[in-house]
Amino acid sequence: MSAFDNFKQKYGPWALIAGASHGVGAAFARQLAERGLNCVLVARREDALRDLQQELIERYAVEVRVISLDLAQPDAAVRLIAAVADLDIGLLVYNAGGDPYITRFLDSSTDDWASLLRLNALTVMECCHGFGARMFERQRGGLVLVGSQSALGGIRKLAMYSATKAFALNLGESLWAEWKDHGIDVLNLLIGTVDTPTMRQAMVKLNIKDALSMELPSASDIVTIALHELPYGPTFVHPEDTVGDGAMRQARRAHVIKISAEAAVFIGAD
Ligand SMILES: NC(=O)c1ccc[n+]([C@@H]2O[C@H](COP(=O)([O-])OP(=O)(O)OC[C@H]3O[C@@H](n4cnc5c(N)ncnc54)[C@H](OP(=O)(O)O)[C@@H]3O)[C@@H](O)[C@H]2O)c1
Repeated sequence: MSAFDNFKQKYGPWALIAGASHGVGAAFARQLAERGLNCVLVARREDALRDLQQELIERYAVEVRVISLDLAQPDAAVRLIAAVADLDIGLLVYNAGGDPYITRFLDSSTDDWASLLRLNALTVMECCHGFGARMFERQRGGLVLVGSQSALGGIRKLAMYSATKAFALNLGESLWAEWKDHGIDVLNLLIGTVDTPTMRQAMVKLNIKDALSMELPSASDIVTIALHELPYGPTFVHPEDTVGDGAMRQARRAHVIKISAEAAVFIGAD
């Protein structure tokens, strides 16, 4: 059996990519379709999703379902889970989550920050719960939370972004600890910078020098690494963990194992 067949058996037959219309999400869809997984593509821009749907069907002969949805809406996860109730989703990639504001905390409204909180925390939690329950039932599957190095500490002009990414990081690492013995792999992919349309547009808007020409890591390279790392989890820090022995990855894994064992003394190991 080939490596792609093994991958499909573990994480197929369907993958759902939340935030698939460009950049990292589209790269995930392409590499998952190449491995033979059928794909559910989710984002707000239906035209872009339809173009990608066509491409995946033509190039990889997989099935593709398009769902146009704003994941920052309060009912987004309920609607998403209902829209794929008939599909066997073995892999969830939650990629949507860039900060559309990039301002100091007081320079955007609490409504704006609440919207980012829903996109990057509440909807993430609800999707992990809904899709995780199905994977847990069959004791097989995978979860990739596309995060950011901003999860590792606070950053000026990225207060809510870094806070929500920290939420997802802790959620993902905890789920890794709970699910690793149940056939479900979890990976937090913490990215430093990656070449996406959102990133380039933000740099132009913020008058960054060389915004369109600055060299950035490619989305497809990062996705290749993520799919390779998925069985190991719980966290991969790009680009740092691509060199040497992956010290950050090792340290985070060791911390989750150690702290889970220590906490079990007080909260139980069940
Ligand atoms: N780019 C970077 O340098 C960088 C650095 C660190 C971490 N990351 C992380 O990598 C991920 C991808 O980043 P990105 O730069 O491609 O930005 P992004 O703005 O999060 O876009 C990613 C995808 O999500 C979709 N999306 C965004 N908001 C959505 C919403 N409210 N509802 C449904 N879909 C939504 C976008 O499509 P539509 O516009 O069609 O909805 C797009 O397909 C994010 O989680 C980000 O935090 C990126």
